[in-house]
Amino acid sequence: MEYIKYPEEFRKLIAGIDTKVPLINGKYSTAINFDNAATTPPFLSVLEALMNFSPWYASVHRGAGYKSQLSSSCYEDCREIVGDFVGADMQKHTVIFVKNTTEAINKLSYRLLNKYKKDAVVLSSFMEHHSNDLPWRDKYSVDYVDIDCTGRLSLKDLKEKLIQYKGKVKLVTIAGASNVTGYINPIHEIASLAHEYGAEILVDGAQLVPHAPISMKTSNPSEAIDYLVFSGHKMYAPFGTGVLIGPRETFQEGVAEYVGGGTVELVTHNYIRWFDPPLKEEAGSPNMMGVIALVESIKSLQKLDMYLIDNYEKALTTYTINRLKCIPDIILYGNTIDSRDRLGIVPFNMEGIDHNMLAYMLSYEGGISVRNGCFCAQPYVQRLLNIPDEEIQRRIGDPTLSHPGVVRISFGLYNTHREVDTLISLLKKISLNKKDYIKKYKEILS
Ligand SMILES: Cc1ncc(COP(=O)(O)O)c(C=O)c1O
Repeated sequence: MEYIKYPEEFRKLIAGIDTKVPLINGKYSTAINFDNAATTPPFLSVLEALMNFSPWYASVHRGAGYKSQLSSSCYEDCREIVGDFVGADMQKHTVIFVKNTTEAINKLSYRLLNKYKKDAVVLSSFMEHHSNDLPWRDKYSVDYVDIDCTGRLSLKDLKEKLIQYKGKVKLVTIAGASNVTGYINPIHEIASLAHEYGAEILVDGAQLVPHAPISMKTSNPSEAIDYLVFSGHKMYAPFGTGVLIGPRETFQEGVAEYVGGGTVELVTHNYIRWFDPPLKEEAGSPNMMGVIALVESIKSLQKLDMYLIDNYEKALTTYTINRLKCIPDIILYGNTIDSRDRLGIVPFNMEGIDHNMLAYMLSYEGGISVRNGCFCAQPYVQRLLNIPDEEIQRRIGDPTLSHPGVVRISFGLYNTHREVDTLISLLKKISLNKKDYIKKYKEILS
């Protein structure tokens, strides 16, 4: 990858940046992708790395052939690169490759059954993605740390819950940053609190890791992160790799949720000797190309500098919020005064227009991709929208009722102020001609 110093040049690193998409008027427009929290397009450097590695690709851990040996050692080296990127303590931690964040959390939820006692409490929070809530529910006693009136995690409630459970909380599992509001949680402060009360901490880094610097290690060991998970497809490497990092000793005892080839050293019909972690956790043939992609994206992000990316995306977010505020019928959620502790994610609605219809308008009129709905964080969105319990009960009783929701803009490092200007002028146009647009889209979407 060439040396890039200025954020304006980030665009040329992305595949498909100039792709034209059809509009409702029959014309074509350069696609604007404001849905990076869902998934990001690949870096060109990632595609190139895959092409370059392809002639050398062979099965990992399975062969004496030159290519197989090369693939195997390359695969193992990748663990170090990934661990270094997030400041893992490689003396203590193991890096396990999985499919995505969801699989990583599910895996950990099974593996901790072996470590924690039966009555263990897991503290999740009101702002979690379903992937950091549902896997815990059927295995542990789960409680949820509350949020404050702006939607931020309440550290006061976290502390109260840790005290209330008298040492039974074994894990605090928290998003590094919310995929709905973009709020960045103070993970090291939370780690310190969790450790003080005898709990470990898991950080769901699906949103944080691609957009801001992070270190699991800290100068003060009580603030260190025990477990971290994230997904390659949200960091410009959409080739099916996710990561689970945690203390090696957690995975030493017990058996992984999936077993089979690649996990065992010796097997008879009545004896099994498992490999040490991470191998015992990765049943079946590993996703070598997915790991190559992830590592190349990490190298590219490091060259660009995570601090620069973070600052640029924050500036873009502040700019967007300020411009959205000038459209009178836009409703913004969360704290819009200070966006320093926010990633590039902006949830909003337009008074009088359904979130789903607005998302289609942006796509069909402007070629702008956003996400709408609840973003797999229904309890959080219900709270942000102040949906009364009776209404939620009504929806539980009648599955045909439509879901409430919001529209979400989420930035990648390649988005620009000019793209935001295009969005703003379209939103203004819709706002000024609301009745006409609603009539048109009722017909289109019926
Ligand atoms: C905060 C957070 N956690 C977990 C996930 C799940 O990630 P994946 O779909 O890659 O498993 C997402 C996806 O949007 C997310 O935003």
